[in-house]
Parts: sequence; structure tokens; C-alpha cells
Amino acid sequence: MTGMMMSCLAPNPQGLWRPGPFDAMAAGMKGVGKFGEVMAGEKGKVSYDDVAARLQKIIHSGSQRKAITDFVCRELRKIPHYTWVGIYGVEGPELVLRSWSGPSATQHARIPIGQGICGAAVSEKATVIVPDVNDDPRYLQCFINTRAEIVVPILRGDAPIAEIDIDSDQPNAFGPTDKEFLEWVASDLAGIL
Ligand code: SME
Repeated sequence: MTGMMMSCLAPNPQGLWRPGPFDAMAAGMKGVGKFGEVMAGEKGKVSYDDVAARLQKIIHSGSQRKAITDFVCRELRKIPHYTWVGIYGVEGPELVLRSWSGPSATQHARIPIGQGICGAAVSEKATVIVPDVNDDPRYLQCFINTRAEIVVPILRGDAPIAEIDIDSDQPNAFGPTDKEFLEWVASDLAGIL
């Protein structure tokens, strides 16, 4: 990732979305069309930038926090390789599931910060990408079909206050576009959580 690309992706001081960068990044990826739309089965074509624009609108809508996090999970799950999307809040020594969207509920509604991929992202204050969950001893299983996972902490200053957790049924599902895109979502959400 070049410095130029990073500055291009950061939200501007007003937190306003500047369209274009995620689809441009995604355009070279396997399974991604000319305009950045992701070719998919039942979820159809989805543009990262279209999702980002809708997320920005709701995040800055002044709606209640739970309504916003519910919407964010539903909206993110439109991206074809995002099979299950959850937002956990940091509450003392635990992560507590606040919103989720996916085919089924997880039994891990509360996770001690010392455990799982979810705990690792908060402890490290950094995004964790697991290309194959079967190869990672930290992994806490939620769904039998999950093959890959990405967890992105939501930081206020230096303090983790929440995180976005996404499971995919595809191995090696998450790349640099997902990381940059979700870190942008996390930084925008940090302002309202
Ligand atoms: N797999 C996570 C637990 C949460 S579920 O994916 C919803 C982990 O290892 O922390």
C-alpha cells in the first residue's frame, strides 16, 4: 500500500465519503468486474463504493446507535464473500455482540478479550486476517462452513471500543481492499459509538 493510496482512502476531516478508491482497488481482483462490482451468485453485483456511500449516509444520520450498527451489518453482508457480519462492543474484559447479520446466530455472543481471533484484534489493536481458520489455533468456531475471517478493531484514539467481525465461506476470502474498506468503516463508526 503506497502512502498516496492510504491518504486517498482516509476519511476527510468532515468524515465525508469520497467515492472511487475501493472499487478502483478491487478492479484487479479475481472475480471483480471492470467497474469494481463483485461478481457473485445469489447476491448479484455489488460495488464497494456503493456500499460505502450508503454506510456513510446512515452512520451520519443521527439515528440510534443500535439501529446504525444493525444497518451496517446488513449492508456489509451484501458483499458476496461476507457470509456473516457482526459488531462486538468492548465491555470491560469482554467483547459483547451488539448487532449481526447472517444465516444463523453465533453461540459466541460474549468473548473474553484473551480469546479467539476477535480477542486478538482487540489485544493487538490491529486488523487480523485469517486466510484459513482451520490453520489458526486461536480460532473459536461459530459456523461449520466458515473458512476465512477478518476482524477489524474500532479505535477511539488508542483505545479499542468495538470491532467488526466477518466470516466467509470462501478460503482466503479477504484481501487488501477488504482491509482498507473495513478500516474506513471502522474509523467512521468510531465517531458515533
Ligand atoms: N470466530 C471468532 C468468534 C466469533 S464468530 O466468528 C461469530 C473468533 O475466533 O474470535
